[in-house]
This record gives sequence, structure tokens and C-alpha cells, in this order.
Amino acid sequence: MTSPIIVRTVAEMREHVRAWKAAGQRVAVVPTMGALHEGHLSLVRLAQQHAERVIATVFVNPKQFAPHEDFDAYPRGEAADAEKLALVGCDLLFAPNATEMYAPGFSTLVSVSGVSEPLEGAARPQFFGGVATVVAKLFIQSQADVAVFGEKDYQQLQVVRRMARDLDIPVEIIGAPTARAEDGLALSSRNAYLSAEERAAAVALPTAMKAAAAAVAQGARIDEAERSAVEALKAAGFGQVDYVEVREASDLSRLGPGPIGDATGRILVAAWLGKTRLIDNMAVG
Ligand code: PAJ
Repeated sequence: MTSPIIVRTVAEMREHVRAWKAAGQRVAVVPTMGALHEGHLSLVRLAQQHAERVIATVFVNPKQFAPHEDFDAYPRGEAADAEKLALVGCDLLFAPNATEMYAPGFSTLVSVSGVSEPLEGAARPQFFGGVATVVAKLFIQSQADVAVFGEKDYQQLQVVRRMARDLDIPVEIIGAPTARAEDGLALSSRNAYLSAEERAAAVALPTAMKAAAAAVAQGARIDEAERSAVEALKAAGFGQVDYVEVREASDLSRLGPGPIGDATGRILVAAWLGKTRLIDNMAVG
């Protein structure tokens, strides 16, 4: 088990990348906000199948949190993160501080229209601008050949793909399947906020989502399947349901209200359990 090299500056990271590329090695980057769990580690393992060297980045990006959101409460623990990365053989941990990432006077925003507008974009208006800005920077800083993102944040994955394509950033984007707990709940750093009781109730989210996806795949009306899923979530103790929607899988345009027909669908869900906001999604059919 070798510990990852920990670097805090773009210049240091680039020195390592330059040496690796000079030796003919491909470089992958796995962007994260830390509080690493098995889902993140599965991304590192997938990255290792596509590149000889893997960089994990840990940066709790202030630009993607609204003032009322959980930036301060977001779990942080670099030592534990570095240990987990060592166990999977990650080569380098890039953990910049906020001024390395956003120097005084920083004024640029990367804004992706279209695919970033519904769903998470509607519920969290500044979120994808913050994500696209930091991810564009991480791509340019790392000069990685490959980047791995989780399908857990499905809309984010589509926004990042669009951004990299639009800006001609020469990076191959790979989507990784969602890692789940045994009961089906998607792993998430924010699951740490759930009380024991809420954690038990949370399983209703993947359960309702799977039932709706199966119903739509079997020809049910999309609006009815969405409505049943909302009801199931409320019955299980969820509070506000931000959305349960079956959308077109690649551009997230609207489908329904009737049966899905030949379209390729994705069901996406965001709902509150107490003070915790959970999201999940899966393929339909
Ligand atoms: P974070 O929530 O830490 O997630 C980092 C990466 O891990 C994302 O690509 C996310 O989709 C993936 N991931 C999280 N939970 C997963 C799971 N259960 N299974 C598979 N992959 C999972 O997403 C972010 O950070 C940030 O927005 C970031 C892209 C780093 C920009 O700041």
C-alpha cells in the first residue's frame, strides 16, 4: 500500500503530470469533494482501467453551494480520505485551498445552458455554474486524458460532457455506475446527515424510483408513475419532493405525460428527508 502524493498547488500537480506523460503514461482525474466512500473509490478503480496514473481531487467547492446550503457543515477529513485513496492505489491527491483555486479577483463563470436548466438546475440555480467552473479548471489544471464521474449525479455527468465538448477540452469523460448500500440506497457523503430512523426510511427512495421505472418500462403513463412515486415517498416520511421525473436520457428533455414509447428514459428523483436532501436516478427499461 503506497500513500498518494499529496499536492496543494496546480504547479506541483503539473510537474507530476508532465513526468508521467513524458514516460508515455495516460492520466485520469477523479474530481470529488472528499468525505470519500465506496462510490468514490469505485470511480478511482474504474479510472485505473483507463489510465496508468490516477489523480483524485478533493475540494469542497464554495461556488456550487448557495449561501443557505450546507457548505460549512459538509463533511471534511483529509487524513481519512488519503488513507482510503492509499488502499485503492491512487497516485496523487490534489487538495488545493480556496485561494489556490480562486485567486483574489477571480471573475470567470462557466455557464452551460440547456441540459443544466431543469431538475437540479431549477432547484439549485447556482449549482451547475459552480460545478462547470471548477470542473473546467480541474481539467485544464490536471491536463488529464480521462475523467471519471458517477451516474449518481446523472445530470452533472451530462453537464460536464456538454461543457468539455463545447470548450474542446481534450478529455474523455467516463460515467460510472452508482454504488449502493445493501438495501439499495445510493452511497452519498450526505447520508452522514441522516439519523438512524431517517436512514431506515431512506430506502423508500430507491424503492419508489425502481417501481416507477419498472411501471413506465411496462407501458404505464409517465405522469401516473411519477405521481405514485411522490405518494410513496410522502408515505415513507419524506418531506418536500423537489422532483420525480422521467426524462430523455441524454439531453434530459421532457417525456410524457403518456407512455414512453420508443424513447430512452432516465428517472431522476430529489427529495428531502428531515434536513437532508437526497438525489438518485436510474435507467428506465
Ligand atoms: P462528490 O459529491 O464528492 O462526488 C464526486 C464524484 O463521485 C461524482 O462524480 C459523483 O457522481 C460520484 N459519486 C458520488 N456518489 C456515488 C455513488 N454512490 N456511486 C458512484 N459514484 C458516486 O460531485 C461532486 O462531488 C462535485 O460536484 C464535483 C464534481 C467534485 C465538483 O465540485
